[in-house]
Amino acid sequence: MREEKVIVIDFGGQYNQLVARRVRECNVYCEIYSYKTDLATIKAMNPKGIILTGGPSSCYEEGAATCSDELFKLGIPVLGLCYGAQLMNWVLGGNVERASAREYGKTDLKVDSSSALFEGVKENTTCWMSHFDYISKMAPGFKVIATTDNCPVAACEKKEANLYAIQFHPEVLHTPEGSKMLYNFVRNICGCSGDWRMDTFVEDSIRAIREKVGSGKVLLALSGGVDSSVAAGLLSRAIGKQLTCVFVDHGLLRKDEGDEVEAVFGNGGQFDLNFIRVNAQERYYNKLAGVSEPERKRKIIGEEFIRVFEEEARKIGAVDFLAQGTIYPDVVESGLGGESAVIKSHHNVGGLPDFVDFKEIIEPLRDLFKDEVRKAGLELGIPEHLVFRQPFPGPGLGIRIIGEVTEEKVKIVQEADFIYREEIAKAAEEWKKANLSDRFGESKEGLTVDQIFSREREFNPSWMPDQYFAALTNMRSVGVMGDERTYDYAVALRAVRTVDFMTAESAEVPFSVLQTVMSRIINEVRGVNRVFYDLTSKPPGTIEME
Ligand code: XMP
Repeated sequence: MREEKVIVIDFGGQYNQLVARRVRECNVYCEIYSYKTDLATIKAMNPKGIILTGGPSSCYEEGAATCSDELFKLGIPVLGLCYGAQLMNWVLGGNVERASAREYGKTDLKVDSSSALFEGVKENTTCWMSHFDYISKMAPGFKVIATTDNCPVAACEKKEANLYAIQFHPEVLHTPEGSKMLYNFVRNICGCSGDWRMDTFVEDSIRAIREKVGSGKVLLALSGGVDSSVAAGLLSRAIGKQLTCVFVDHGLLRKDEGDEVEAVFGNGGQFDLNFIRVNAQERYYNKLAGVSEPERKRKIIGEEFIRVFEEEARKIGAVDFLAQGTIYPDVVESGLGGESAVIKSHHNVGGLPDFVDFKEIIEPLRDLFKDEVRKAGLELGIPEHLVFRQPFPGPGLGIRIIGEVTEEKVKIVQEADFIYREEIAKAAEEWKKANLSDRFGESKEGLTVDQIFSREREFNPSWMPDQYFAALTNMRSVGVMGDERTYDYAVALRAVRTVDFMTAESAEVPFSVLQTVMSRIINEVRGVNRVFYDLTSKPPGTIEME
């Protein structure tokens, strides 16, 4: 068990994972648990601090999510956020009532900077509010440490008991000094030393994997995505050739992607492991011929993957472990961590364990958030183009070609997408050079892993999409090229800004960039004579076109 751990108790708030991520960014390890977790279990984990999240309930209503007053008497510092703040006061004898109006959005905040929670925070700052209920009477012994115009208790504390309550949301970026407040809580008030770092995680994991696997054999389905690539890198460093990675090229990957994955993980690459690339393009194209219904296509691609993998696994024979690139949000979203329901199960390529002869599953990234996986990847020396890859759906280009998938259409969308990605990357890089300091802007030489990470993930133009790609519409239209009439396909460009991929807005990619992409696609990609830009939000649209 990790010595220094903070526990985030989830009351069903939409930002539960964000709270945990922010704590991790303070180099403090934390885990999310449901509010239903009993006190003895919490005590047994011996946390250095406890954070109560927001949630949809009203604590004065019958059946509302709640906690025992004993939680506040363990001698462990507790920070309540939003609903958690109200609940702390309610349970300890204060009062919470419904306000006449909801306080919502960016709000001016006055803080008492003599409080340990607000050390180094400006007296007049901004916070993100989202609440109807408010603390109308603090619990005995509490004192106000922050206010807004409409909220008399924006934060309060009972210092001698190490209890702190914040009505607003320090975890969201709209509270610019929120990270500092969380840092003050976990590092100063809870006294965590900040020993959660990705370089030590990598070293510790390598040791733990060696211990667990012994001389056993491990099999991993490598997709080339961030998670499975980092899992492969970590396992390879730990056990070398005891690891076999099967990489299925289904012919629906982006341009050159199969070769890029092979260059890193294949023979002659930087990792010591058995690499098996299955070129299954023909099989997939044959199966997909004549099929245009999106869900049917998805099903065929998923099933065929299992079949190909099963054949390979049979050749290898029994293995001791099947490795999977499960990450912490998968654990939380599958209902094992906090309160949130299963959201994206339909997207997971499930079923592998049923088809492989193995004794145990090994999930070396199970404790990590996505950005931590990326940092671990950088620590392992995995190239940046793999580490910072944007999400790519399992069925690949199969769901970015509307209607029937053919080899010719795959080529068209690969080329168009490549141009689009190249131009976006170029524009983003130019922005970095113009807007970042010399050290970050011009050269990556000598940057630490954390600096490389910040440069790629955090410093980007405001229009930078979180996911972007070209798709092939099934529409052909008339055009003119030179003196000739054409009748070719239309390509659609998609680019979205999103945090959770559940909702998204179309990104405002500069018009000049889009124009360059359009003219390059029409000039360089045969079979395309028209380019559209998709402005649809999600909802009502989805991010992918099928
Ligand atoms: P949608 O299109 O549902 O996409 O708005 C949300 C996110 O999920 C990805 N996506 C998929 N991922 N298998 C996957 O592994 C799928 O079938 C699939 N469909 C969508 C999509 O790329 C986006 O990031």
